[in-house]
Amino acid sequence: MSQQYQHDVLIIGSGAAGLTLALTLPTHLRIAVLSKGELANGSTYWAQGGVAAVLDDADTVESHVADTLNAGGGLCSEAAVRFTVEHSRAAIDWLIEQGVPFTRDDEEPREDGGFEFHLTREGGHSHRRIIHAADATGAAIFNTLLAEAKKRPNIELLEQLVAVDLITERKLGLPGKRCLGAYVLSRQTGEVDTYGARFTALACGGAAKVYLYTSNPDGACGDGIAMAWRAGCRVGNLEFNQFHPTCLYHPQAKSFLVTEALRGEGALLKLPNGQRFMQRFDPRAELAPRDIVARAIDHEMKRLGIDCVYLDISHKPAEFVKAHFPTVYERCLTFGIDITTQQIPVVPAAHYTCGGVLVDQAGRSDIPGLYAIGETSFTGLHGANRMASNSLLECFVYARSAAADICQQLSDVSAPPTLPGWDASQVTDSDEDVIIAHNWDELRRFMWDYVGIVRTNKRLQRAEHRVRLLLDEIDEFYSNYKVSRDLIELRNLAQVAELMIRSAMQRRESRGLHYTLDYPEQLSEARDTILVPPTYAD
Ligand code: FAD
Ligand code: SIN
Repeated sequence: MSQQYQHDVLIIGSGAAGLTLALTLPTHLRIAVLSKGELANGSTYWAQGGVAAVLDDADTVESHVADTLNAGGGLCSEAAVRFTVEHSRAAIDWLIEQGVPFTRDDEEPREDGGFEFHLTREGGHSHRRIIHAADATGAAIFNTLLAEAKKRPNIELLEQLVAVDLITERKLGLPGKRCLGAYVLSRQTGEVDTYGARFTALACGGAAKVYLYTSNPDGACGDGIAMAWRAGCRVGNLEFNQFHPTCLYHPQAKSFLVTEALRGEGALLKLPNGQRFMQRFDPRAELAPRDIVARAIDHEMKRLGIDCVYLDISHKPAEFVKAHFPTVYERCLTFGIDITTQQIPVVPAAHYTCGGVLVDQAGRSDIPGLYAIGETSFTGLHGANRMASNSLLECFVYARSAAADICQQLSDVSAPPTLPGWDASQVTDSDEDVIIAHNWDELRRFMWDYVGIVRTNKRLQRAEHRVRLLLDEIDEFYSNYKVSRDLIELRNLAQVAELMIRSAMQRRESRGLHYTLDYPEQLSEARDTILVPPTYAD
């Protein structure tokens, strides 16, 4: 039997964005935080490098803003960048108050009782401004925020629940277009339950799993973007998929990232013959923005027909390497690579979805009562290329401003009416799950081959043709069979892939992460790619 639940705020996602929103809302609100797997399954847990913020006296808001605009290839919204950077210090102070154990510069307190925190450097940043917890910043943040959320009786932390679709007034044929909650598959019961809420927030992370090779955990399927699109929200800049230059290249190392902070602390990229190459591509060499470094590696790999390049930090003292990068050190050691004496084989892999659901500075989407925060959203901060460690910052800043916005509206919004349950009367159990597995593989492979680091019109046309065939097949399957997590994710991935391809085809220039051999030049005018769904009504 499917169930009905009611909350004041329904938060779909338990990463940095979702937990921050839950913890920043007033304690008298009844809040549900959903995760489709275990609570730690999002990208947040795996973040290594840190959080960018203006914390050093020698650094300035202007400098962080300028670096972000520069990395973003002329496409960032300056207002969004300024808003984020101006709120960076407050976001970090809040994390410190929650108890996040950021790495300190020295263990001795200052005279005023405070501590100096160690700040590292990453590509595109002209100052040391990345606060971090060694090279496992995401786990430190996630564990701290989760522990705080567990202390709050008003926050329900719910695992193994997969949101399928949003419920809106328009879908129910009611006057208005407010979001009223979501239909959610319980993986324990196999039923789709109804979660009504006064406010709903999509904090579902990104969509890098659309590519065959990715640094992301398995759940990064663009669920939030696809649900918002189907419900009638505009999406923006989905052609900008960031490839992280350095993921470990080893047959058994599934999606292991080697943090950019290694390069920030002096690691060098080398060819198999030991020669450096980055200085041929950009004067900033290893510390150029990510799009430039990933493209340079891709170019060298194709030019020389090699499987990987190498990252070398063995010239630094072994104690320094082990103290700053214990996670990378230990993980590489399990594959027989001692990074204090040996080079690390690395390749680029899909890492971050720069575009997403269009939102304003309060995280509000096109649908009243529906917010999108974190990697699911498109705030305008990242432009054509996200600068390293700006994404966790965006999660905290926008989750906090969404909370403030919800607070302002509390007295005007009452609980939704009783909602109709999920209709499963026309579907049966699937007897051909092989279709899901096959389509999943096919999608991720052609996205890698045709919509990857270097694109052409022909490749995009091929991808468009294939994604349309897949969407038809998946739609038919979805209409006839009961939903499962795999089917929901495949349907969403295919939808987001189609939006990515469509966005890429509309951009007739090369800018930031979108590089095409057919239009190698950058146009003089920078424009966002905004897609409008058929269900959109202003
Ligand atoms: P996530 O942390 O990805 O969480 C998504 C949540 O949504 C999960 O709980 C998931 O279960 C849930 N969810 C998704 N779909 C559904 C659904 N249908 N139903 C129910 N629940 C759902 N950024 C930085 O700024 N600094 C770094 O150092 C850094 N390092 C990184 C290292 C790695 C290996 C990776 C992968 C990313 C890194 N990033 C880094 C990027 C950053 O970690 C992410 O952008 C950020 O953590 C996203 O947080 P989020 O809260 O938006 O989503
Ligand atoms: C890294 O540590 O290299 C990842 C940083 C990021 O994605 O911002």
